[in-house]
Amino acid sequence: MCNMIHSQLKSLLEKYHQEHLLQFWNELSENEKEYLFNDIMNLNISEMISQFNKATAFNNNKKHLLDNKIKPIPTNVMESIQNLLMDNVLLYEKLGLQEIADGKVAVILLAGGQGTRLGVDFPKGMYNICLPSNRTLFEIQALRIRSLQNLAKDKFGKSKDITWYIMTSDATHELTVAYFESNKYFGLNKNNIIAFKQNTMPCFTLDGKIILDEKYRISRAPDGNGGLYIALKKEGILIDMKKRGINSVHVYSVDNVLVKVADPMFLGFCISREADCGVKAVIKRSVDEPVGIICQIDGLYTVAEYSEISTDTAKLRDNKGNLIFRSGNICNHYFTLAFLNNISENYEKNLDLHIANKKIPFIDKNGEKSKPNIPNGVKIEKFVFDVFKYSTKFVVWEVSREDEFSALKNSNIMKIDCPLTTRNDLLRLHKKWLLNSGATRVEGDVEICPLISYGGENLIEIVKNTSFEGPMCLKMP
Ligand code: UD1
Repeated sequence: MCNMIHSQLKSLLEKYHQEHLLQFWNELSENEKEYLFNDIMNLNISEMISQFNKATAFNNNKKHLLDNKIKPIPTNVMESIQNLLMDNVLLYEKLGLQEIADGKVAVILLAGGQGTRLGVDFPKGMYNICLPSNRTLFEIQALRIRSLQNLAKDKFGKSKDITWYIMTSDATHELTVAYFESNKYFGLNKNNIIAFKQNTMPCFTLDGKIILDEKYRISRAPDGNGGLYIALKKEGILIDMKKRGINSVHVYSVDNVLVKVADPMFLGFCISREADCGVKAVIKRSVDEPVGIICQIDGLYTVAEYSEISTDTAKLRDNKGNLIFRSGNICNHYFTLAFLNNISENYEKNLDLHIANKKIPFIDKNGEKSKPNIPNGVKIEKFVFDVFKYSTKFVVWEVSREDEFSALKNSNIMKIDCPLTTRNDLLRLHKKWLLNSGATRVEGDVEICPLISYGGENLIEIVKNTSFEGPMCLKMP
């Protein structure tokens, strides 16, 4: 790389006070110089700096103001599974299964996160929570999709397939794709599983300098789960959905062991209300549970992350003693394809930019890689729920935590939302299904293969008057 290129780069970077990115230039090989040159040129540096400034301003503003603006969700947009009339159960389920049978349903798995809290260096979906079957999160979800396709087929005589889009990132893409391939897509048609990568954003120091991850490479992180909307457009997913005749899209996070992928009840509820955007909620288990709160801010639907409201606000109760802000977000969303198209075309650029302070490894001034013990920088992220405010018909579906939410966030040391708790929650649910279906006794760890039952149905004939002793996984004969 000639000197001219160096001076060109230098003057570009000086304009944005980022010339430190070239501090090791003279030590780099020709290949490394070329790498760094491309890395910087592909960055759109003016845009990145303006995003950093926008994110910092948004963040500073937000801290002070949310408590005064937050309002609970109006009851007319919400329905709770606990109070549902049997007629509505049947109606929603039928509508949802019909949508599946007609081939109008896609699911999007958000699987681009780096799993830092869990402390693994592979995609979280590949985590084995030590069930009797040894199934990973990806496998459990795949079998639930197969099970649901079977249910739709049983109900309507024939059913089209569900398309499964998996959003990955640089951190998770290769391993995820290889994992599905080596497991033969868990029996699903490989043409219906489409992995696509989200974008990255550069990582910044707290005062706005882009961080070097190597002497020749900029430190990057995925652009948050709200990076979905730009990726859907850029990676041709919206076009693919249109070609396939998709109407309803269920978006969910990878870490909920109890997730009802493409849940027909949720789909049916949203369809019956003609919603363009819907969200599942669970009642918060405690004031300090670290989940986002589904709410209104300035009259617009959104989620306030647990760090964005004060404890005083989180503690507020109504006259029945219930928390006022109790609708916990479990990262399960419904969108119509028309809504997603509208967002990607018209609103994606306006999405809020959130800042997360993180410990980001960097190259120190001596050229050594350093791993900080305290947050030294920021990642800029978009959030998947920041599109709620653009909905013209928004609905909330409140479900039971025991049946639908147990998230794998931490390692076992934390004793909460960890491999052990998620495993136990799944086995406890399966025990309930068995006993409700007439099993006489369930001892030890008894798991039910999703191909036998998606949500506790169709078990009576198999388990009635039978005693079970684990560890075992009840499978198709
Ligand atoms: C998320 C929700 C929070 C909710 C909680 C419930 C968001 C922004 N927050 O919080 O309101 O209460 O789940 O469990 O949705 N991901 C990507 N790309 C990224 C970052 C994340 O695909 O760049 C994926 C993750 O792989 C995961 C999902 O998004 O599947 C949720 O991300 P995570 O960082 O775990 O969010 P939480 O902080 O747990």
